[in-house]
Amino acid sequence: MPAIVVIGAQWGDEGKGKIVDHLAERAALVVRFQGGNNAGHTVMIGDTVLKLHQVPSGITRPNVAAVMGHGMVINPPALVEELEMLESHGVVTDNLHISANAHVVMPYHLALDALEEQRRGPLALGTTKRGIGPAYTDKVARRGLRMQDLVEVDRFRRRTAEALERVNLELTRIYGAEPMCADDIVEQYAPAARRLAPLVTDTSLLIHEALGRDENVLLEGAQATMLDIDVGTYPFVTSSSPSAGGACLGAGISPLHVREVIGVVKAYTSRVGSGPFPTELHDAVGDWIIERGHEYGTSTGRRRRCGWIDLVSLRYAARINGLTGIALTRLDILSGLNELKLCVRYRLPDGTETCEYPLDTNVLAQTEAVYESLPGFEEDISGARSFAELPENAQAYCQRVAELLGVPLALISVGAERNDLVALRWPM
Ligand code: GDP
Ligand code: IMO
Ligand code: MG
Repeated sequence: MPAIVVIGAQWGDEGKGKIVDHLAERAALVVRFQGGNNAGHTVMIGDTVLKLHQVPSGITRPNVAAVMGHGMVINPPALVEELEMLESHGVVTDNLHISANAHVVMPYHLALDALEEQRRGPLALGTTKRGIGPAYTDKVARRGLRMQDLVEVDRFRRRTAEALERVNLELTRIYGAEPMCADDIVEQYAPAARRLAPLVTDTSLLIHEALGRDENVLLEGAQATMLDIDVGTYPFVTSSSPSAGGACLGAGISPLHVREVIGVVKAYTSRVGSGPFPTELHDAVGDWIIERGHEYGTSTGRRRRCGWIDLVSLRYAARINGLTGIALTRLDILSGLNELKLCVRYRLPDGTETCEYPLDTNVLAQTEAVYESLPGFEEDISGARSFAELPENAQAYCQRVAELLGVPLALISVGAERNDLVALRWPM
């Protein structure tokens, strides 16, 4: 019963797509269990760069079934566009299965996301404006539309008209925006509904059957632990549960099936959008990392905020997720720095120091990072395929990260391409 959870341990964009693509080589099923097209997961095969938003990263492997679980919120026209993009690159998409219980991101969710961000003004969260928050709001309020509603045209028309009775009050009275029309929405979504209908099924049962055959099932997280609605830096979070606990619920399996939880950890830290970030760099080193690492969003193109690795928040993530292994990514980007800093403690506003992640938002906003320093490395490490092939200083850095987290290294990624990887152990 081997399910392996792969999740982001920081604030997203750690390189989850690349790690899932690698592990999928030994999997039968890859499941996305939350989020929607706020995610941007990059898989690079040779010169081909695939940017996946809703489709699980396992889709590139012909023998792997890709599953979109009921914890997701799905934008149907965007999904069809993504499938067409994949097909144009020769990727076979027949093996995609979509949960009948996944929620649908409606056009009014996109509008409400943008309007609410605008209303917040300087307090904006910096969302991806993909309608994610409003779609999950409707889910929790028990008024959302699901994939099973989308694929039956009369039901979809009726449920959309019912939803608009409330949504149009919100659009016009709260935001002063134009109301929406059910017929327009049905017309806009009908081609995608027809295209996706044959893929809609009971995905929890599919996963259960694969586990019953003792096949490897990968659960691919989007976003990351620190963006989790419950355990992240609320309110500067997404509206789903990207941490390991969310994987079982969003896929529909028992926690007893999970054998490993791999935390994908960028060798430094990046964050898109607003919210606390104790190790953020506002200096030349920060600019250097952003430019060398091309740290611009996969989904929205926004410049990512960057800083040193933060072992305090990572220890918190290791605890919350029960990490059994680390996939350390983008180590190659740090090559060329004289000194590598690791945040090992936080200095709180009252002057005391702590290794534990503070939950109080006001305290967190005023927290200063306390660093330990290691010598950097100069070499191009993208050709390394074993730990011994890494420069000594790079080895020491990786080992120190693992030691401070108390979690062993499983993988070290040294470049964007599929094979640019040091695999220390297979979690399956
Ligand atoms: P995700 O959202 O966690 O899947 O990560 P993204 O795809 O948004 O961002 C990670 C970026 O880093 C993508 O452009 C990847 O192609 C790239 N990438 C992944 N691993 C490595 C690595 O080890 N080194 C380098 N240089 N790039 C990497
Ligand atoms: P992947 O899967 C990085 C951030 C947004 C914003 C907050 C809420 O590629 O790692 P939302 O649109 O979800 O309501 O935005 O979450 N965010 C991400 N940041 N990577 C992501 O996905 C993200 N998905 C959402 O920038 O701060
Ligand atoms: Mg991303």
